[in-house]
Amino acid sequence: MISSRCWIIYSNDPLIMTETLLRQLEVEDLSALAELEACCFNPPWSDSQLHSYIVGKRCLSVGLWQGGRLDCFALLSTVLDEAELLQLAVRPDFRGRGLAKRVLQCVHDQLRQRGIVRNMLEVRSSNAPALSLYRSLGYQQEGIRKGYYPTADGREDAILMSCNNLKESSTE
Ligand SMILES: CC(C)(COP(=O)(O)OP(=O)(O)OC[C@H]1O[C@@H](n2cnc3c(N)ncnc32)[C@H](O)[C@@H]1OP(=O)(O)O)[C@@H](O)C(=O)NCCC(=O)NCCS
Repeated sequence: MISSRCWIIYSNDPLIMTETLLRQLEVEDLSALAELEACCFNPPWSDSQLHSYIVGKRCLSVGLWQGGRLDCFALLSTVLDEAELLQLAVRPDFRGRGLAKRVLQCVHDQLRQRGIVRNMLEVRSSNAPALSLYRSLGYQQEGIRKGYYPTADGREDAILMSCNNLKESSTE
């Protein structure tokens, strides 16, 4: 049975017939989420941190599943009519195929349905793929936190971005 929190099901390649599912993450998804988090971030967030974003009343967690495997997720917190994107990742082998864009478009739709029109985020100044992704979705730079993130040999800036007019978007 499809959960009411499942938003999109489609097969993006008729030859492979891989089922793709875009839905809200549930507590049962914690181990899959932790596995993907560990593939994408060093150090990864702890299981209890991830759990708090799945169950949090003012949080939104979206996962994209392909053939039953979690390949992309986004975690957000919300306050009144604003949201903040806290974590976004795509499985390394599946980057550059439009998965993150699709998940963020779904996130925008879900936020709008909650009456939220503004989303904010922070990104490392060296993270060209993420910066390009956010710009392509209408995010604009709002500020810089100098030396905010540690690197292997020093510090790097955080770029603060926001999208102040979340538009209706097609996730088809
Ligand atoms: C950043 C990240 C989420 C992008 O996911 P993705 O699924 O590869 O991105 P998409 O394929 O949806 O790309 C959407 C847009 O992002 C931009 N983009 C994506 N990868 C890019 C790259 N390697 N170089 C330049 N631009 C890139 C492009 O504008 C692209 O649009 P286009 O294909 O129409 O030109 C992914 O690289 C990732 O998981 N990185 C590690 C974790 C991370 O950095 N998360 C973000 C923390 S702020």
